[in-house]
Amino acid sequence: MSMRILLLGKIGQLGWELLRTLAPLGEVVALDYPEIDLSQAGAARQAVRLAAPQVIINASAYTAVDRAESEEPVALAVNGRTPGELAEEAAALGAALIHYSTDYVFDGAKGSPYLETDAPHPLNVYGSSKLAGEDAIQQVGGSFLILRTSWVYSLRRASFVTKVLEWSRGQPSLRVVSDQVSNPTWARMLAEITAQLLAKAGEHPAGWLSERRGLYHLAGDGYASRLEWAQAILRLDPKRGEQVARQILPARTAEFPTPARRPLFSALNCSRFTNVFGLRLPDWQESLRLAMEAG
Ligand SMILES: NC(=O)c1ccc[n+]([C@@H]2O[C@H](COP(=O)([O-])OP(=O)(O)OC[C@H]3O[C@@H](n4cnc5c(N)ncnc54)[C@H](OP(=O)(O)O)[C@@H]3O)[C@@H](O)[C@H]2O)c1
Repeated sequence: MSMRILLLGKIGQLGWELLRTLAPLGEVVALDYPEIDLSQAGAARQAVRLAAPQVIINASAYTAVDRAESEEPVALAVNGRTPGELAEEAAALGAALIHYSTDYVFDGAKGSPYLETDAPHPLNVYGSSKLAGEDAIQQVGGSFLILRTSWVYSLRRASFVTKVLEWSRGQPSLRVVSDQVSNPTWARMLAEITAQLLAKAGEHPAGWLSERRGLYHLAGDGYASRLEWAQAILRLDPKRGEQVARQILPARTAEFPTPARRPLFSALNCSRFTNVFGLRLPDWQESLRLAMEAG
């Protein structure tokens, strides 16, 4: 099999892993800032025209949730406008588009894991900008997958996991919120499952994906509060001897005011993806164990 793939966001948590998992599928043209600035209108369009891929994978995004509150135009350009440009160019080429979105399109009021059919209602600029991107792709149609994921982490870029490990080395006692709940998702697993999907798609990915096109939830199986996640990180830490933290205490989101409001319960139900593709992400604790062992 030899597919021509354009990957945007190759330096990000997910993009870095995708660059590796996609390699066996064919030729990957990979870009990121500053080679390409997706806040500029037309940049994504031009990249697609130059690469002429069969598949476009958009792992780039403006992900600074708090900063987005004061930089709405940039967040909207990268997360809202760029996906629409990619969808239009994909449709013009007969290519497939795989795009990632977020649990932050929801307000967290439902109280049980969200389905694709639940109405989105973002609480912050980042969530609204990502929702605008989803809408733009769906308006164009064509061959696309929008994979909504949540709480993505890697150990090689600053993430909740690396922050908890860092705090555990410097503070005798940690306080972590127990009222934010979602599915921790290892970037490498998300990249693996994306590559496996494309391998299943075979020689004509646009046609195969077009029959299955749409919006899917895809995140680590099961869910946890940030407190439970932090507890698991400390327990699975291969260098526990370096920890000076002796206790981890629950806190409430309201005690740590941030510029962006966050949904409290934004766990995703991923059954639709499993039913359609016959693949699922492993349990979040199992993935975390593997991630910590991999270092
Ligand atoms: N991280 C999470 O917890 C989370 C949760 C739910 C969904 N998601 C979604 O999952 C996907 C992957 O997220 P991630 O965690 O891998 O994100 P990430 O680590 O922040 O990577 C995003 C990449 O996009 C690049 N980018 C940002 N602005 C750009 C611009 N103007 N022009 C070109 N490139 C630009 C970033 O470059 P710089 O680093 O130079 O800015 C970075 O390399 C995104 O769609 C995200 O919305 C993430």
